Amino acid sequence: MRLVKSSVKEWKAAAACLAVVIVIVVQALGLRAGWPQEPAQPQVDEEMAKQEKIYRSRGADVPSGYVTNRGLSDYADLLPSGFCDALGSLGSSDRWLDIGAGDGQAILDYYAPVDAAAPAGKCSRLGGRARSVAMSIEDRRTDKWQQQAASVGDDRIRYLSGKRLRNYSGEELGKFQIITDVFGGFSYTEDLSQLLEKVLSLLEVGGGFYTVVQSVRLEDGKDKLDIYYQTELVDAAGRDVKVCSWLKQTACVKVGCESKSDWDAPSELINIRKVCSDVSVPRMKLLKYEAGNPPARRFQLEP
Ligand SMILES: C[S@@+](CC[C@H](N)C(=O)[O-])C[C@H]1O[C@@H](n2cnc3c(N)ncnc32)[C@H](O)[C@@H]1O
Repeated sequence: MRLVKSSVKEWKAAAACLAVVIVIVVQALGLRAGWPQEPAQPQVDEEMAKQEKIYRSRGADVPSGYVTNRGLSDYADLLPSGFCDALGSLGSSDRWLDIGAGDGQAILDYYAPVDAAAPAGKCSRLGGRARSVAMSIEDRRTDKWQQQAASVGDDRIRYLSGKRLRNYSGEELGKFQIITDVFGGFSYTEDLSQLLEKVLSLLEVGGGFYTVVQSVRLEDGKDKLDIYYQTELVDAAGRDVKVCSWLKQTACVKVGCESKSDWDAPSELINIRKVCSDVSVPRMKLLKYEAGNPPARRFQLEP
């Protein structure tokens, strides 16, 4: 009986030692492989609160990097090359959603009378036909918006504010042929996979999502040596992943990337075409979020 008791004791002690060794080895391996650590929630909350302050800022308090009034010709310069043609091909029953529209100037330009003096070849010569929805967390509508929207009519032009893209249901928003995002949700969200999933759920099959993201690892590999990456992606083992490589793992889409390595903030111009309805976006978790214009973010692909 005593023999059995002492062997149970020895077994327990050996198991405890083994558990300690396993913990040490796992931690050591993790640190050596540079496995990224998840941020503490209070830290993320603090940064999100700072980011909210930026969204709510008005007048002189708006940080200089937080630009909210880009027009349609800026969109033409910042979005992938097919954007103007795609917008120009929309008919009167088609719909365009601009996520993170700020003042909504790009949509106002789209509905402005075609100006013969406008430079040829720019989107600004389109003269709006499609219906459009501008979305912003904070309401940045100007008097100009109110006037022009009143003359175009509520059924053709809408401004949604007060919540984020993820807080709208599919029924509330309906489907779109074109979705744009110029330094909006795609550059500011703390949940990039969820945002992309939502965008793709709102796109009609055959429709296109046009966006831009700055200071990322570029698809063409021509990154500047001294670049500070504002949006970083890593795989489950902590190795760097390009934003376009991640996007290309999504089912039911065709991804086009145009790398702008010579821009002040090297940027990737992204066009995602939805080709079938069974979309599935590889999930990522947040590793870092620091408030800014746009914020600094680090995400890790889930295995
Ligand atoms: C820097 S402004 C860009 C405005 C406009 N696109 C431009 O280029 O002038 C960022 C915009 O993105 C919006 N935004 C950020 N995250 C968003 C989200 N998850 N859903 C909807 N809007 C978002 C902000 O409220 C704001 O309207």
